[in-house]
Amino acid sequence: MQHEPCPVWMGHLLASPIRALAQNPATILAPYLREGMTALDIGCALGFFSLPMARLVGPSGLVICVDMQEGMLTRLERRAKRKGLHGRIQAHLCTQNSLRLEERAGSADFALAYAVVHEVPDPPALLGQIEAALKPRGLLLLGEPILHVPRRDFEETRSLALAAGFTLAGEPPIGRSRTALLRKRLSAPCA
Ligand SMILES: C[S@@+](CC[C@H](N)C(=O)[O-])C[C@H]1O[C@@H](n2cnc3c(N)ncnc32)[C@H](O)[C@@H]1O
Repeated sequence: MQHEPCPVWMGHLLASPIRALAQNPATILAPYLREGMTALDIGCALGFFSLPMARLVGPSGLVICVDMQEGMLTRLERRAKRKGLHGRIQAHLCTQNSLRLEERAGSADFALAYAVVHEVPDPPALLGQIEAALKPRGLLLLGEPILHVPRRDFEETRSLALAAGFTLAGEPPIGRSRTALLRKRLSAPCA
């Protein structure tokens, strides 16, 4: 798998409204988000998913937008401000090996990780950190673009998620994607 993060110019392409014709973010995320929830968008880039997430969690909710590239987060904040969603968005700079979410342990209702695991050098560590940030029975929606990530690699990622403390709750359809909806187990994962 590639371990280079996608460049900021690509972030602009990923945030294009044309993408919503194949991947409508509000339709994809509406089943999992409600007013007042705390959600994580891991590898958020310019917020193609984060901004619709912010609408779904409403003024009493919070979307923590996590990315290792400051350039993505500053642009995302600008876009959120323009759309009046700034108060529900928290830009969170992480490193390639740590989400730096320790202070948020056990607090998130939902996490999205779309098109990011294939860029990460240590997927088991990433999945473990997401699991730690979620509430018990919290949901993680994992997605990877079909063109970038072969089925075998995605199946391996899904197995790693199961080992990190999730159970498989579904495979919701997202255009041109491989997906897994995962629920955090109540008991701790085996060492
Ligand atoms: C291909 S983009 C996908 C962006 C967004 N999820 C979307 O679907 O529009 C991958 C994003 O993940 C970020 N990323 C890559 N490796 C990361 C890591 N180890 N931790 C956090 N973010 C990472 C990149 O900076 C980039 O913004």
